[in-house]
Amino acid sequence: MPRRIDIDPESVERYLQQLARFGAVGPTGVSRPVYSPEWVAAQDQVAAWGREADLAVRRDAVGNIWSRLNGTEDGKVIVTGSHIDTQRPGGRYDGALGVIGGLIALSALKQQLGLPKRPLEAVSLCEEEGSRFGRTHFWGSRAIVGRIDRGEAETLLDYDGISMAEAMRSVGLEPAAIPAAKRTDIDTYIELHIEQGPILESEGVVIGVVEGITGLSWTEVAITGRAAHAGTTPMHLRRDAACAAGEISVFVRRLAQGMGGHQKGTVGRIELYPNLVNVVAERAMLTIDLRNTDESLLQDAERQLAAFLDRLAAQEQVAIATRSLARFAPVSFPTEMVSLIETTARELAFSCRRLPSGAGHDAQMMARLCPATMIFVPSVGGLSHNVREYTEPAHLEAGTAVLLHSVLRLAE
Ligand code: HGY
Ligand code: MN
Ligand code: MN
Repeated sequence: MPRRIDIDPESVERYLQQLARFGAVGPTGVSRPVYSPEWVAAQDQVAAWGREADLAVRRDAVGNIWSRLNGTEDGKVIVTGSHIDTQRPGGRYDGALGVIGGLIALSALKQQLGLPKRPLEAVSLCEEEGSRFGRTHFWGSRAIVGRIDRGEAETLLDYDGISMAEAMRSVGLEPAAIPAAKRTDIDTYIELHIEQGPILESEGVVIGVVEGITGLSWTEVAITGRAAHAGTTPMHLRRDAACAAGEISVFVRRLAQGMGGHQKGTVGRIELYPNLVNVVAERAMLTIDLRNTDESLLQDAERQLAAFLDRLAAQEQVAIATRSLARFAPVSFPTEMVSLIETTARELAFSCRRLPSGAGHDAQMMARLCPATMIFVPSVGGLSHNVREYTEPAHLEAGTAVLLHSVLRLAE
């Protein structure tokens, strides 16, 4: 095990607090949608920290910020990082921890060891959450792996009708240049992230050794019924879009509960029209988030949902149309990458346990390009996508130390 490199134990928390100023919501929340002014200020701060650490900093065609520590030898790059955007609102740690952990790791390596043999880069990825555009996910990492479709930036609209292309241009980025963000020189990718669930905390374990990431299926459902008077329309004559939406929400929960295991089901967004107290709803729009770490089970859940929607349309005499918003298959990380994290955590005397990720992460995109893996640290109360998200400073430091020494092992 290479000599242990020390980091200032309070530095991770301190950087996180500083970054959380950009898009602050109340005392602990953050709202930093991609390409917003808060997002620009946060990425500028990341670039400034990279330069302060005497790393070579550059912005790519979609606004990912790369901070590079050259090696004594050329060759493929070892990359660490995460996303700078957040939920609206979300917590201070989701994404930001991996961005800051990567910068601190490369800075400490440079200061205490000089140049590693192989080049290292810490990346602040522009967008992962889908919180502004509702359907895009992994915009930064999809650009890196070359999975942004031609014309996608023009057709993707946010909740205010602004296209991704317009949003990019508003911060000085040219959508036509997106293909230039593709990388072919990345050797491996490690992402430090909060667990966002209850497992590590409930077992008193400090480091999560992530074996893979769940598959994800996002669907938008549009229901069309008939507006009617709430007082005069007999119940059996209604074509009630709101009632159908409620039935779908309950079905999704019961589907996930019935399947058990790693199956999840969530209706996170419902909009009604005309959304008035005394009018039977004419239209409803809702989103469904289905997940499973097993692809065949996820497809089974999708089939059960489709069959239910067909039955419901006939039962409620409404029209139901669906549109896929995002669909990513589960990924398993290579054994040697998972073992690297586990061995490093044990040698640094941190308790650790293997687990899958129920949350999506950029690592599942990067895994299509190179051997990838993740390091988790505990979330207090298992809470995330919530302004009260919190992780103990000691755990932030532990995760960063494991990241640093894992990257060092790959770089030597
Ligand atoms: O949806 C997810 O799992 C991620 O937090 N964006
Ligand atoms: Mn995240
Ligand atoms: Mn998230």
